[in-house]
This record gives sequence, C-alpha cells and structure tokens, in this order.
Amino acid sequence: MEDYSRLLEAAIKARHNSYAPYSHFRVGAALLTKSGEIITGCNIENASYPAGICAERTALVKAVSEGKREFEAIAVAGSLEQFDEAGVLKDELTAPAFPCGICRQMLREFVDPESFLVLTAAEGGKVLKYTLAQLLPESFGPENLA
Ligand code: THU
Repeated sequence: MEDYSRLLEAAIKARHNSYAPYSHFRVGAALLTKSGEIITGCNIENASYPAGICAERTALVKAVSEGKREFEAIAVAGSLEQFDEAGVLKDELTAPAFPCGICRQMLREFVDPESFLVLTAAEGGKVLKYTLAQLLPESFGPENLA
C-alpha cells in the first residue's frame, strides 16, 4: 500500500489556516493529484453561516481552478479546537472528520469513486481509509448525463 503520510501531514498543516470562529471546528484537507502534486485547503466560515466552505471543497476548487482535474486521494484532518491552561491553541486531533455530503458529491464529479481514497486523521496517529464509493454508494455522476 502506498504511504500517504506526506498527504496526511499536509492536511494537518493546512488545518492551521482554518478560519472557524463560529463552529470552532478546524479542518484541513490535502488533495493528491495523479501526478503527485498536493493541493491543500481549510474550512473558511462566514458571518452569514451558509456562505462558509469546507476544507475539502476549498482544496478541490483551488485545484480545478488551476487546471488540475485528476486526483488519487484526499486526506482530511479536523476536530474542535482545544486550548491548554495557558490559553494556547493545542494542535491535537480527536475523532476523525469525514467529508460532508456536499463535498463527497463535488469530489465525485472528478474522480473514479471505486479507486479514489479518502483518508482521515484522528487522535494518536490513527488513520481511517475508505474509497469514495464506500462513502457515497450508488452515486450520481457526469456519465449519467452523457
Ligand atoms: N467541515 C469541513 O471543512 N470538512 C468536514 O469534513 C466537516 C465539516 C467544516 C465546515 C464548518 O466550517 C465546520 O467544519 C463545522 O461544520
């Protein structure tokens, strides 16, 4: 199995730029292209709540807008922010975060759901791995409109 540690590290690092003053749920994502490039994203919330965007879609729109459309995997690292006694933000993950339904569908547009991998980082270095088809079975995609 391929080693996705570089991708997971990029997702964890991208989480540092998360703008989540409303939910305090900070998420980073890292999308791997088939040519080995990594494009990162974070969630960006908004005072008008529905205008916010998830980390996974930030990474995807960055990539597609730069002409990249072939992807192998995405790594996600998200959890509620926590502070230590001194009020310093702790850089710790807790339960694994999974892409929401909208992000799953947006990814579906550009990938083969049977082979595209979704990795999610959790506490203690734990990593869960699924294909997109496992997370979005019987999905609707571009071929349905062809
Ligand atoms: N969020 C993501 O960015 N990705 C996920 O996988 C789950 C949820 C964001 C959206 C919102 O800014 C916050 O997390 C709470 O829902």
